[in-house]
Amino acid sequence: MKPVRATTNTTDRVREQLPLALCGTYAIPDNTDWDYATADTKTHTHCYHLYPAMMIPQVARRLIRLYGNAGELLLDPFCGSGTSLVEARLAGLDAIGIDLNPFAVFLARAKVTDFELDQVVAEAKVLRARLEEWLKSARRVPPPNFYNIDYWFKPEAQEDLALLRYAIDQCISEDVRDFFLVAFAATVRASSNTRRGEYKLFRMPESALAAYRPQVFPTFWEKVERNVRGLCEFLADRVPRTTVSVYEADSRHPLPIASESVGLIVTSPPYGDSQTTVAYGQFSRLMLQWLGFPDEVAKSIDRRALGGQSRSTQVQLDAPTLESVMETIAHQHPRRAAQVYQFYADFAECLPELTRVVKPLGYACFVVGNRTVKGVRIPTDQILIEIAESFGWRHITTYHRRIPNKRMPLRNSPSNRPGDWGDTMTHEHIVILQKR
Ligand SMILES: C[S@@+](CC[C@H](N)C(=O)[O-])C[C@H]1O[C@@H](n2cnc3c(N)ncnc32)[C@H](O)[C@@H]1O
Repeated sequence: MKPVRATTNTTDRVREQLPLALCGTYAIPDNTDWDYATADTKTHTHCYHLYPAMMIPQVARRLIRLYGNAGELLLDPFCGSGTSLVEARLAGLDAIGIDLNPFAVFLARAKVTDFELDQVVAEAKVLRARLEEWLKSARRVPPPNFYNIDYWFKPEAQEDLALLRYAIDQCISEDVRDFFLVAFAATVRASSNTRRGEYKLFRMPESALAAYRPQVFPTFWEKVERNVRGLCEFLADRVPRTTVSVYEADSRHPLPIASESVGLIVTSPPYGDSQTTVAYGQFSRLMLQWLGFPDEVAKSIDRRALGGQSRSTQVQLDAPTLESVMETIAHQHPRRAAQVYQFYADFAECLPELTRVVKPLGYACFVVGNRTVKGVRIPTDQILIEIAESFGWRHITTYHRRIPNKRMPLRNSPSNRPGDWGDTMTHEHIVILQKR
């Protein structure tokens, strides 16, 4: 039976008190559980932009403290908006991030960049003055011509966004431009016709749309101000000599990383295929289109992500838990079972590269959720352990956290087996593995 712990044990607590050698001076609050229900998750550059299924910075911070060492290299092979990469710099570690979504790569790079604060503030003033002048003289710039722009943006939003985008290109120097483009991307989303509080692309109902007045310029300046505060915090707390590289790549393919160079992986892979779980591509589409990416790139992300399409896989899975779940689902829904299997097969295809780049005895921390398909709960935490063990990893422990905005009483596992905790909507599982 594998050890399962819901809270931190004594060894962990002692380790958490130790300085990471230290470099990073940013304080970690004491905690016994992993919920961080009331924690501020938008400090530093974490406030820059929303992204679906973001990792909680406090979780990344604590994993680095528990399993990382100063001077080591951290890898996040599904880095999304870069939460763990930001935390690596705050803790004094170099890091590499990989994601196949170009919008994620754009956000992650911006969040780990030391933009020159004085330059950002000075250029913001120039940009504001230029925009005021252009608005007074009713200057117009033609909006881009991407697929369905009229469906997702009112004419006045298109006009204002086009002028703003043009002004950023004209007035802002290249070395700080991405700082402003991140605020622009957040403004794109906030002034679109999409329903609020959804990551997928759903249009507002007609009644709401009729009353809706997009506020492009006030929204943009609000985001710039908030992000300047985040940048100040980041510049004060990050360890200056640390570096982060972020690559747009597929983690199933050979990675641009030397063998046995990584000390620690901290990552949250997708929960399942994007079509039926979190649609990272759909979320990113409008921002990518306004940033000038071709429609085809913006529309293909979910298809290219783990589990995105059926294809023959080279990896033979050695995971009894997955087999038994597959049997149950396949009994009634063979096609759905094949789709679920494809996701895990794709995930397993990442393992040879992840194993190659990690040092012997290095750690990998995976934050995963257990979803339900056709009424059958899929214990991804246990499946992940079985897959990783077949590639030479050892399961150290699993921590469990309640997802705070969906709080429910924590049910203890009757069998004490990984995967027997709560359900998809209430818990995340943090699986810790060590390379043998
Ligand atoms: C749960 S999100 C990561 C969120 C991230 N931890 C954060 O805080 O923003 C999972 C990410 O995996 C990426 N992804 C999916 N399939 C991938 C693949 N084959 N290679 C690299 N990245 C992939 C998605 O684009 C998505 O950004």
